[in-house]
Amino acid sequence: MVNKITVVGAGNVGATAAQRIAEKELARTVVMVDVAEGIPQGKGLDQWQSAPIEGFDSRVIGTNGYDETAGSDIVVITAGIARKPGMSRDDLLNTNAGIVKSVSEQIKKTSPNAIVIVVSNPLDVMCWVAKEATGFPRERVIGMAGVLDTARYRAFLATALDVSVRDIQAMVLGGHGDTMVPLISYTSVSGIPITQLMEKATLDAIVDRTRNGGAEIVKHLKTGSAYYAPSAGAVQMVEAIVNDQKRILPCSAWLEGEYGMQGLYLGVPVKLGRDGMERIVEVTLTDDERAALAKSADAVREPMSVVKL
Ligand code: LAC
Repeated sequence: MVNKITVVGAGNVGATAAQRIAEKELARTVVMVDVAEGIPQGKGLDQWQSAPIEGFDSRVIGTNGYDETAGSDIVVITAGIARKPGMSRDDLLNTNAGIVKSVSEQIKKTSPNAIVIVVSNPLDVMCWVAKEATGFPRERVIGMAGVLDTARYRAFLATALDVSVRDIQAMVLGGHGDTMVPLISYTSVSGIPITQLMEKATLDAIVDRTRNGGAEIVKHLKTGSAYYAPSAGAVQMVEAIVNDQKRILPCSAWLEGEYGMQGLYLGVPVKLGRDGMERIVEVTLTDDERAALAKSADAVREPMSVVKL
């Protein structure tokens, strides 16, 4: 475990992430910080009171200020407004850019050595805002989206094939939006290529459902967006870093020439360990996948051009 992990935002994603981090005892202290008075304090106390039952010793505290977050090893940023039905992730753009910028400036001051995991939407653009506002190197500012998108894809495949989710290996790359790129050529069930197990039409429908996975949840919930799977995705990344697992996970990373692109965050396979993003893995893509990734990059660059930093 590390000494301190801060979760910024005590909404559904943030609070669920804090609870998962505490239950896994990934940090001695888990700090939840939010501007809403009383909410982080109340949720943090409630979570700490679950510790004697669940049997964890990670202390959860909630606060409205950054003093208690000082010296965090890892900071997970979930702050921002969530999507409402009919809203695209980009509609959130300027409101959340302002929020993520001010949060990042606080983190820079109070936790200058932290590794930052961004969850706020629109994800890839918010990663860039956080990197610019903290001035941290790209190894220490990483976005959570690919783990979530891949989890949705794997869950749909497991249901359709009636097999364990554990045996489904897959990777969804690209931006966290409708242009994301589920890699069919890297999808397998215990090493068996997915194309040997499933009709193309079924697979295409699953790919499509994955791309709209976030919107499907919003449509059901009506007043908010998904949080169980998003928080699980963020915590998988936290765990890989805390325990130096060297996991290869699809994460949003700042590209400096990888995949022939630079100057933007995009979902790519990365190695996560104690130093944060330790490596970007470049895999061979089919022509179609390469074209789809380029299109997805355009969908990230466009909102970047309208954000005022
Ligand atoms: C989702 C939102 C949170 O994918 O981006 O569920």
